[in-house]
Amino acid sequence: MATEQHKPHLFVDSGNLLFKQAQIPNGPSQEQLTAEGIIKIYAAMQVDAVAVAPLDLAAGLALLQTSQKQGFPWLSANLLDEDGHPLFQPVRIKKIGKIKAGIIGLTGAVSSLPAGVTHADWRTVLPALIKKTTRQCDILILLSSLSPAENQEIAQQFPAIHLILAADLNSGNMNPQQVNNTLITQTDRQGKYQGILTIDWNKNGRWGMARKEELTGMRNRLDALDWQIQRMRQRKDLQQPEYIDKIKLVEKDRKTVEQQIKTLEQPLVPGPASGQTAPCSFSYTFLALQQSMAEAPEIKAIVTEIKQQINTLHQNKTSKGETLPFLGPDGCKSCHPVQTKFWQTTRHARAYQTLQRQGQAFILECLPCHVTTSPGFTLGKDQLLTLPPGLQTVGCENCHIGQGRSHAGNPKQFQMTKQVAEKICLSCHTKERDNNFEYQKKLKLISCPAG
Ligand code: HEC
Ligand code: HEC
Ligand code: HEC
Ligand code: HEC
Repeated sequence: MATEQHKPHLFVDSGNLLFKQAQIPNGPSQEQLTAEGIIKIYAAMQVDAVAVAPLDLAAGLALLQTSQKQGFPWLSANLLDEDGHPLFQPVRIKKIGKIKAGIIGLTGAVSSLPAGVTHADWRTVLPALIKKTTRQCDILILLSSLSPAENQEIAQQFPAIHLILAADLNSGNMNPQQVNNTLITQTDRQGKYQGILTIDWNKNGRWGMARKEELTGMRNRLDALDWQIQRMRQRKDLQQPEYIDKIKLVEKDRKTVEQQIKTLEQPLVPGPASGQTAPCSFSYTFLALQQSMAEAPEIKAIVTEIKQQINTLHQNKTSKGETLPFLGPDGCKSCHPVQTKFWQTTRHARAYQTLQRQGQAFILECLPCHVTTSPGFTLGKDQLLTLPPGLQTVGCENCHIGQGRSHAGNPKQFQMTKQVAEKICLSCHTKERDNNFEYQKKLKLISCPAG
């Protein structure tokens, strides 16, 4: 929930931001360094609260607890230590302009918990927490990585929670949905979007739309009760005393619902005369984060620092000495000298040097398009990081499909494809990396000559 910088705003996240998998070894790794970087960036952006979600626990507790000690606002009301005490702050109260917001964090089911951690059922911790927090704040927000069904259940049971920001891995961007008096919404995973929710808050704490939905719900309930009463009256054993009591109970229920509908139907007139204010309202957008967006220099510096650390970490890997199915250009040179000489003049031949110049020759995300592989063959992480120098280039076998090593031994039996289909080029010349790639035009620039 953020708005333009100058307006009072909250910057919160419901978690699952640190890792992409459920388990990561604790210790130096690209994943660990990236996670530390994300925490640093969020801190630099002055995040107000982040709930701990299952994917944040993937490397254990150490990272979270260290950052918590340094002031990072992790929240979780249901991750407990061995003595049943919360491991993180359960709730944070934060002023947004004149409004006091209570922010509660709840962690969803974790597949394998770090040692010494219990995951408590939210049903055991939430009621008391709501009771306590409601008294201290105007708006109550829940950051939740629980399942969509559990979030619905919470909204049904606790109208005191005005807003649930979810972190479900499968729901993507979710337009705000009103359940009872709670808005449920979420932003897609892994920072692809920024969700902006602008709220016009009034003291009565009721969403305008919710009133309308509540009313419809109530009317449906009244219809159902009428139908039930009618059915009961038609029964033969109508005269039995216990049955009469039963009908009485249902009729009483009906009266309550009728009364509630009457109350809800009264117009909400703003102003002191009626003692009521207009309902709360909101608007929202999901802002796609693009590479073309301006980067804050401070954040860019952190990103560069993380990349350098990963690069240094990966530099020290050593090869397992396995034999790959491709040879690299040195193995083709003797029989195809004309094409090799030509290829050496293309930028493909220097693609790896480009990464070295950038200090990113050991960044896993960059390597697949800047080294020798073969279409359809995916190099593993360790293989990419320990390629022999002969394969540190975009070479012949990136374009010419075939088993290069076998072909060099027996060219007649193992053929290489001469033509290079557009989709091979596009596997590297993606929209993201090269948005004005024209196959026919570019093909002319790199086609090896006959001879
Ligand atoms: C020992 C010599 C030798 C080596 C080494 C060799 N080739 Fe060849 N290559 C040939 C011969 C001979 C042919 C022609 C085969 C045919 O016509 O059946 C050929 C054909 C080709 C063709 C097809 C050309 C066409 O006209 O259809 C391509 C592409 C090719 N080689 C690529 C490579 C690549 C890439 C490498 C290195 C991985 C390589 N070659 C290594 C001998 C070699
Ligand atoms: C394995 C990935 C890969 C494949 C496959 C690939 N390229 Fe490239 N290409 C690159 C990279 C990386 C660069 C930039 C190299 C550098 O300057 O560091 C590049 C640069 C180029 C350039 C020079 C820059 C420019 O845009 O003028 C041309 C032309 C080009 N590629 C054409 C092609 C064509 C045509 C194909 C398909 C026949 C193709 N490439 C296949 C990775 C690839
Ligand atoms: C999906 C394939 C792909 C990936 C992944 C990739 N690149 Fe490239 N890169 C290309 C292609 C294709 C070009 C050539 C396009 C052009 O120059 O217009 C290129 C060009 C470049 C250039 C420009 C070369 C020059 O001299 O103009 C740099 C720098 C570069 N890449 C660095 C990186 C870094 C750093 C990473 C990792 C963060 C990376 N690339 C990841 C495909 C890729
Ligand atoms: C970026 C893609 C690319 C790379 C890298 C590349 N080639 Fe080619 N090569 C082509 C294209 C395109 C043609 C022309 C195909 C056609 O005529 O349809 C070609 C043609 C050839 C031919 C056939 C020439 C003929 O017409 O007789 C051979 C042999 C060949 N390349 C070998 C190599 C060798 C060896 C290397 C590495 C040193 C290499 N190629 C690197 C794209 C590439």
